[in-house]
Amino acid sequence: MPKHFLMCRPDYFTVAYKINPWMHPEAGADRDVAVRQWEGLKSAYEELGHRVSLIDPIDGLPDMVFAANGALVVGGRVYGARFAYPQRGAEGPAYLRWFAERGYETHEARHVNEGEGDFLTLDEVILAGTGFRTDVVAHQEAQEYLGRPVISLSLVDPRFYHLDTALFALDGRNVAYYPEAFSAGSRAVLRRMFPDAVIATAEDAEVLGLNAVSDGTNVVVNSEASNLQLELKRRRYEVIPVELSELRKAGGGPKCCTLEIRGEN
Ligand code: ARG
Repeated sequence: MPKHFLMCRPDYFTVAYKINPWMHPEAGADRDVAVRQWEGLKSAYEELGHRVSLIDPIDGLPDMVFAANGALVVGGRVYGARFAYPQRGAEGPAYLRWFAERGYETHEARHVNEGEGDFLTLDEVILAGTGFRTDVVAHQEAQEYLGRPVISLSLVDPRFYHLDTALFALDGRNVAYYPEAFSAGSRAVLRRMFPDAVIATAEDAEVLGLNAVSDGTNVVVNSEASNLQLELKRRRYEVIPVELSELRKAGGGPKCCTLEIRGEN
C-alpha cells in the first residue's frame, strides 16, 4: 500500500539554537549537504512508490524540515501541533494551514504536543510519548479528537526527547525500540504489547537508527544503524539505508523529516 507523506525542503535549515542535546549552534551545519541528503530521502520514498507532497519552508524556521512534528493525521483528521519551545512555535499554525487549505478537517490543539514526533499510529492504537516535549494531557486530547485509543509512554533520556527517536512501527502491529529510552513502567507496557518487537542496541539508538520509516515491507533507516539493519534483514525486511548526517546535527533523522498523511479521501 503506497503511503502519502508531507515533507519540507531544508532551504532555511541551520542549527541556530539548542533545544535538544544533539544541537550545537557553534558547530554549524552545511545547508547544501542537508538539502542533498534530504533529496535522497525524498527520492527513496518515490522509488518505493510512495507519494510525497511538499509544504513551503519558511525563512527563520530552521527546524521546519522536521515535518513529523507539524501535526498528527489519522483518518483524514488533522490534530495540530503546539510546540514546547517558542523557537518552533510558528510551525504549528503553518502546517495546520497547509491542511486546512486542502480541505482537511483540522483541530487546533489546546495542549503542547509535537505531532508525529511523539505520536506513532498503529492499526488499533496510537503510541504517545511524554517527558520532554508533548504534555501527557495532549494524549487525552488526541484520543478524544481522533477516536483512537492512545497509550502513554514515558521517555527518560534527553537524547531521545521524542518518541520517534526511540521507537518506530515496523507495520501496524509491531515495533522496534530502544528500551533504555523509556521508564521502567513504559518498558513493561512495551514488552507486554509487543513480545516480538525488534530490540535496538545503544549503538543503533545513538545514530538515531530508531528514527526510521517502514511501510511494512521496506524500512528506510539511517545508514549508520548497522545492528538494526542486520536484524531487519534477518526478519526479511527490505532495508533502504539513507544518509542524513547533516540533519542529525539538529537531532533529526528520516522519520523526523516525514509526516504521514493517513486516510484522506
Ligand atoms: N531540532 C528539532 C527539535 O529539537 C529536531 C526535531 C526532530 N523531529 C523529530 N520528529 N524527532 O525540535
